[in-house]
Amino acid sequence: MHNGKKNVLITGTTSGIGEALAKQFATRGYGLVFVSRSKEKLIKQKTAFERKYSVPIYIIEKDLCEENAPAEIYQELKEVGISIHILVNNAGFNECGAFSKTQLEKEIDMIKVHDIATTRLTKLFLPNMMKSKWGHILNLGSIGSYAPFPLNAVYAASKAYILNYSLALRSELKSKNINVTTLTPGATKTEFAEKAGINHTLLFSNFVLSSDKVASKAVKGMLKKKAVITPGIYNKLLVLSMKITPYAILQKISPIFYKDVG
Ligand SMILES: NC(=O)c1ccc[n+]([C@@H]2O[C@H](COP(=O)([O-])OP(=O)(O)OC[C@H]3O[C@@H](n4cnc5c(N)ncnc54)[C@H](OP(=O)(O)O)[C@@H]3O)[C@@H](O)[C@H]2O)c1
Repeated sequence: MHNGKKNVLITGTTSGIGEALAKQFATRGYGLVFVSRSKEKLIKQKTAFERKYSVPIYIIEKDLCEENAPAEIYQELKEVGISIHILVNNAGFNECGAFSKTQLEKEIDMIKVHDIATTRLTKLFLPNMMKSKWGHILNLGSIGSYAPFPLNAVYAASKAYILNYSLALRSELKSKNINVTTLTPGATKTEFAEKAGINHTLLFSNFVLSSDKVASKAVKGMLKKKAVITPGIYNKLLVLSMKITPYAILQKISPIFYKDVG
């Protein structure tokens, strides 16, 4: 299986943007590797995708908070002979609120999933892309990547890492024919906001895009080797305003988005 076709590894496929990205790649005939924690959901997803898209699906149940998870994923795929040509670091979640009240362990896990696992997986899967002189890496940032966000301090900082890291890596790998794209979505209708208890906030009450729209823009943009993709005109304007507004002003405005979170 997965031989002769290009293969995509996507983390966090069991819902939301990851699942929508998987659909985009499946429609284009790529072999797929899904990584998430929920084994039951992964098994159901594999059956549904294989039936609908006739593409090979390989599933790996793994918690990306675990330090060894990336190495174990890499080793398992090596043993079954699946090479990865496109790596999508999508898995993530949000622990939102005033830093004095949020749970430290969740925040540390957020850094582990967003930043450490992404960095480790990229380090492991890059050599094969270098060898074949072809590859794409798609990393999930956020509009939070562009500025410090009071009431979402650790999340936004973890996503700022993703943007800066990905842009630098992009420059390093350009001459090797390996593309690095960062997807920086705004509010998107997935399980994310509900899990974080922020679905009632101003940010998630307005201009919320569907995960299918976000994923469609992401995969089209990635295949065109775009550096950064921010789906939706409202989100594009938001990012522009974050780039040009002095932080002294921005820090007064941005907590409004998370009002009521505390
Ligand atoms: N939704 C938004 O408004 C929004 C906006 C900007 C950026 N993003 C980013 O988009 C990405 C996807 O989020 P989403 O909105 O699609 O959220 P979602 O619907 O909650 O999906 C998150 C996915 O990540 C997986 N995941 C979470 N923790 C994991 C862990 N420790 N190990 C392995 N897998 C894990 C979940 O699977 P299991 O629970 O089965 O492990 C799930 O498949 C995240 O990086 C998020 O920060 C989202």
